[in-house]
Amino acid sequence: MQTGTPAPIPTAPVDGLNVVLGGTGGIGSALVKALQARGETAVALGRRTHPVLDYADPSSVAACAARVGQQLADTGLPLSRLIVATGVLHEGAVQPERSWAHLDAAALQRVFLVNTIGPALVMRHFLPLLPRQGRCVAAFLSARVGSIGDNALGGWYGYRASKAALNQLVHTAAIELARRNREALCVALHPGTVDTALSQPFAKAGLQVRPPSVAADELLQVIDHLPTGSSGGFFDHNGLNIAW
Ligand SMILES: NC(=O)c1ccc[n+]([C@@H]2O[C@H](COP(=O)([O-])OP(=O)(O)OC[C@H]3O[C@@H](n4cnc5c(N)ncnc54)[C@H](OP(=O)(O)O)[C@@H]3O)[C@@H](O)[C@H]2O)c1
Repeated sequence: MQTGTPAPIPTAPVDGLNVVLGGTGGIGSALVKALQARGETAVALGRRTHPVLDYADPSSVAACAARVGQQLADTGLPLSRLIVATGVLHEGAVQPERSWAHLDAAALQRVFLVNTIGPALVMRHFLPLLPRQGRCVAAFLSARVGSIGDNALGGWYGYRASKAALNQLVHTAAIELARRNREALCVALHPGTVDTALSQPFAKAGLQVRPPSVAADELLQVIDHLPTGSSGGFFDHNGLNIAW
């Protein structure tokens, strides 16, 4: 499912299939590259791939999941890592709010659609594709600023709230997932500050901004070393727990 081409059928023997939603974004495309560099099969889905994944059209989430399900059936591979690297901080007139005076219904709806409702639909359609036994991971990229306990600065109402709501969805889905497969993990991950289109307008002196390739390697390290009992948690790119 690379851009504009039909879904590739893996030819090399691999342990499982990796699916990166938002695999055409800054961090998502770096994750796809990092997985492919390891010789793994990684499917990237986004608004410019075929099939299209666009949260503005909920049926596209179902259609993408059906396509991945077909690929799993055709290849006999398990879905080993589902990584959700979609998200929005700013988009045209939608900008992070500095004050409650900037709160706008349409902007809030857009931010919640992309950061919360879209990933919720991903849970509905993709989590049932995870194997019923054996280790597998569903990782949703969240943000430290979604932590209520860590919020000392204020501002960015919509982004913070939509990520806090995403974290609750992840924790809830992890409980349901454990009933299907005790070895399956579902987590929220903060990638750190990464040099992508999302962060560029807000890059500040003093922030540790890392290239997407570095963030991707760190996130895969975290995903592959999540300990037993960590499902439903919120971790940073070093694997450290973040307060809700
Ligand atoms: N960069 C950072 O410093 C940073 C820090 C903390 C958290 N994060 C989180 O990390 C994740 C990835 O961010 P990034 O930095 O890689 O940003 P990015 O380069 O802007 O990528 C965002 C991704 O979200 C997808 N997306 C946006 N709107 C969508 C929609 N309506 N339907 C489906 N997909 C949509 C984009 O799809 P297209 O490719 O089709 O445009 C793109 O793949 C996000 O969840 C972000 O909140 C990033």
